[in-house]
Amino acid sequence: MTTSDPLLPLRWLEPPGGPAIELLDQTRLPAEETFLTCTDVPQLVDAIARLTVRGAPLLGVAGAYGVALAAARGDDVPAAAAAISTARPTAVNLRWGTDLALRAWRAAAGHDGPVPGPKAGAQAALAQARAIADQDAAASAAMAAHGLGLVPTGARILTHCNTGALVSAGEGTAFAVILAAHRAGRLARLWVDETRPLLQGARLTAWEARRAGIPHTLLADSAAAGLMASGQVDLVLTGADRIAADGSVANKVGTYGLAVLARRHGVPFVVVAPMSTVDPRTPDGPSIEVEFRADEEVSCLAGQAVAPAGTSVWNPAFDVTPAALITAIVTERGLVQPVTPGNLRDLGGSTDSVAGPQSASYVER
Ligand code: MRU
Repeated sequence: MTTSDPLLPLRWLEPPGGPAIELLDQTRLPAEETFLTCTDVPQLVDAIARLTVRGAPLLGVAGAYGVALAAARGDDVPAAAAAISTARPTAVNLRWGTDLALRAWRAAAGHDGPVPGPKAGAQAALAQARAIADQDAAASAAMAAHGLGLVPTGARILTHCNTGALVSAGEGTAFAVILAAHRAGRLARLWVDETRPLLQGARLTAWEARRAGIPHTLLADSAAAGLMASGQVDLVLTGADRIAADGSVANKVGTYGLAVLARRHGVPFVVVAPMSTVDPRTPDGPSIEVEFRADEEVSCLAGQAVAPAGTSVWNPAFDVTPAALITAIVTERGLVQPVTPGNLRDLGGSTDSVAGPQSASYVER
């Protein structure tokens, strides 16, 4: 079922009834390709919380378009931006994209009140959202090019969660590197962790790999240790939801365990993420806010209870991998290797534009 049709997980629509954000409903994949149309910010916030739209880079894009939607509707834009940026706490791109669009709206409006010169503010927020999407697509391509250099010929790559076009305005983060390796004839096999509890690996990455014609094999997360011990993994590639100033990486729960295993078995562990995922305002791993999600995500499977009613559940959506376990971080600006605070900083200073990493440039509230 190889297809080169582009995957469009998010689109800005301008029908006669007013603008809207169309989302590919990722909760229904791979069974159904259905779309959800958000005509206001509460619908978008709900879609973000329910993972209809998900993945760090795409959340940045969604946040910016959400501000544009609020502005176009004449809603209270700062309040809308606050609701969007706190819909999920860990992926810093959400706050980053939302804040950039809010700042563009404010600058065009020329004052700090809740209602701007409506047209100029709305146009500026929309232009900013489009620029963020364009930048994300360009970042994907650049990360793929930089990351390809780390992939040996005949590589058997293990990945976790989902990092392809479903999380991006381009081809994704780690998955963009995997695609580049496949196109270059270097990829022998992609090992796909199922990624409990919400199965982003099984539902989404296996689906994307199949679409792209990549030879892939699905495994239970708990099988990764034995797989690595058997010598069948040459490289682990993951994405990131937030990278702290010390190089610690928050990513889908289970990532830290893979990094420990990779170190134990001498396998390179590489993180691929755009600069919009690097948060200099978070000093270190313990400072990263990890999202905790509903008990039912663990105690139920496909809507069926798999644990006795009332069982206590611990359900962090992410974990944090310390820099010392990471071989390299691939960004659109190049590699961070070894992963040290200095090397991360050296990738580029803070800028106030969309092209730069977030910094003190956040909008003050
Ligand atoms: O909870 P999700 O599905 O939004 O998790 C995000 C992820 O897909 C991963 O953590 C990913 O590696 C980072 S986003 C490219």
